[in-house]
Amino acid sequence: MVAAVAAAAPAAATEESATLTRPPTGVHSAPVSDAVDRASALRAYADETASCTRCVLSRGRTQVVFGVGNPDADLMFVGEAPGFHEDQQGIPFVGQAGKLLDRLLAGIGLQRSDTYIANVLKCRPPGNRDPMPDEIASCEPHLWRQIELIQPKLVATLGNFATKLLSGKPLGITRVHGQEQEVTLGGNSVLLYPIYHPAAALYTPRMLTVLEQDFARIPELIERAQATTPVTARDEPAPLPAPVQAREAVQLGLF
Ligand code: URA
Repeated sequence: MVAAVAAAAPAAATEESATLTRPPTGVHSAPVSDAVDRASALRAYADETASCTRCVLSRGRTQVVFGVGNPDADLMFVGEAPGFHEDQQGIPFVGQAGKLLDRLLAGIGLQRSDTYIANVLKCRPPGNRDPMPDEIASCEPHLWRQIELIQPKLVATLGNFATKLLSGKPLGITRVHGQEQEVTLGGNSVLLYPIYHPAAALYTPRMLTVLEQDFARIPELIERAQATTPVTARDEPAPLPAPVQAREAVQLGLF
């Protein structure tokens, strides 16, 4: 679980209440209960995923970039896809965007080891182009399984692709950033919190200011999410909406 967090910052955004149940039908796995078992199941799943060939990106990658951090974290970040450095090192967010993420975390009294960090895609798209819908569809079961096993309380989606996939809605990040909503992900109640992607904020000072403001609310949101009674719909997931096509043309080429 997340260690001590900094003092709560003032609420800056409207809460949008919604009850969504993700992932799509068919990708729920057998429940794994306690934290030690979940951590070891996550390790085993990472090993299995290392040889994934579900989409064409497997042909051009150096390695699968599965995820990094505390397998029992209350706070999880979901980015877009590995870039050049991530593909080389096998770790998400190790380039410039990662350095900014680390700085933002330090600003709220956290380190990346207090969190879990993953991406929508586990393999680098060529030239760091946007993820394609079929790649997202192929890769999303990996992310759902990560969420099922980690059982985060707060999931911060970084940018358009993660936000659209995990919210199940086509609304872009400019419209929904800073607006938390309660959803059910991987059979558990989660506070979903869309924020700008750090790579976008690197080049746009106005976006960086907004990202810093949204980041400042994370400690307060973790506390709120920790206080919420967990949902346990693991054995019998509710009927779900059809998977969304998560691609939209507005995302910038970020890496
Ligand atoms: N951007 C992402 O979305 N993920 C990474 O791992 C690095 C940059």
